[in-house]
Amino acid sequence: MSVSKSVWNTAPTSAPAQRGNRYTTGSAAHPAKMLPAIAAHAIRTYTQPGDLVLDPMCGIGTTLVEAVHLGRHAIGTEYESKWAKLARANLALATRQGVTGHATVTCTDARHLLTHIPPERHGTAALVITSPPYGPSVHGQVRSTRETGQRGVVKQHYRYSRDPHNLAHVSTDKLLDAFTQILTQCRTMLRPGGTAVVTTRPWRTRGELIDLPSAVLAAGQAAGLTPAERCVALLAGIRDSRLIARPSFFQMKNVRDARRAGIPLHLVQHEDVLVFTRHTQDLAGHPATSRPPRCSSRGQHPPRSTGGCRARRADDRRRR
Ligand SMILES: C[S@@+](CC[C@H](N)C(=O)[O-])C[C@H]1O[C@@H](n2cnc3c(N)ncnc32)[C@H](O)[C@@H]1O
Repeated sequence: MSVSKSVWNTAPTSAPAQRGNRYTTGSAAHPAKMLPAIAAHAIRTYTQPGDLVLDPMCGIGTTLVEAVHLGRHAIGTEYESKWAKLARANLALATRQGVTGHATVTCTDARHLLTHIPPERHGTAALVITSPPYGPSVHGQVRSTRETGQRGVVKQHYRYSRDPHNLAHVSTDKLLDAFTQILTQCRTMLRPGGTAVVTTRPWRTRGELIDLPSAVLAAGQAAGLTPAERCVALLAGIRDSRLIARPSFFQMKNVRDARRAGIPLHLVQHEDVLVFTRHTQDLAGHPATSRPPRCSSRGQHPPRSTGGCRARRADDRRRR
């Protein structure tokens, strides 16, 4: 299937600079927030003012905040009450700053998304934009000996929660099954011709690259969505035609450790962006027919016949 490809220049400034005064200070505690410019670029590209944007896994509400600042309306769901509360606080801040868009956040499992949205709003969203969780332990933030008075570097804010039912904490195959269910509900929420944008990343387990983006692409198709574009959203800046990397402490450490062990790892400075559409003829919202996807190493076909992700054993103690 031919899909168009492009690169989004989404990190001309750092994440803290992009967040500016639009987010409450507590928001820093979320370990895997979307870069605001990625959300803003997608919203500007695929919607018009007054349109409805949906994020079924909205974390602290980056996509919703960017939507209301651009005059769109938004609906978000989030499993963890502490992140849903922060998303509401960020939207209240946006209201105080005078935005015209309106947004709501419901704390729920997004697999039951449709039961929380009145039927008359089904089929009305112009854009779904979301990012699945990347495993129980993500990079988080570090504090140095100078800041803490303790020996060595202290890692903080690197977990979504300790709830085993959070999709960050299930096996990759279960995550993909659940994400297919969530995208199926999102398809019902989209208006015909509407767009779904999913940002995701591959990760390594013992040096082996696990191709989550391709598995998410298959999840979208299994949910009845049509792949339209495959893009790259830069996490690096561009200066004088050169990429300026903005790695976290742990990204640098992981790369250095891998290279010391003889693995030629490179810094990943982009998100994979998968863009789908709901077909204009898709009026009845018939159920998806394909089998849920499975994950594989990059460059290989997903092992559908045998099932199971190659990373499942070492799996998901650490997806990044
Ligand atoms: C990658 S984060 C999204 C971050 C968000 N884009 C932001 O900028 O804050 C994925 C989110 O999915 C949430 N999540 C996990 N399982 C979920 C489920 N079943 N339903 C809804 N949200 C879920 C996690 O708690 C996490 O906040």
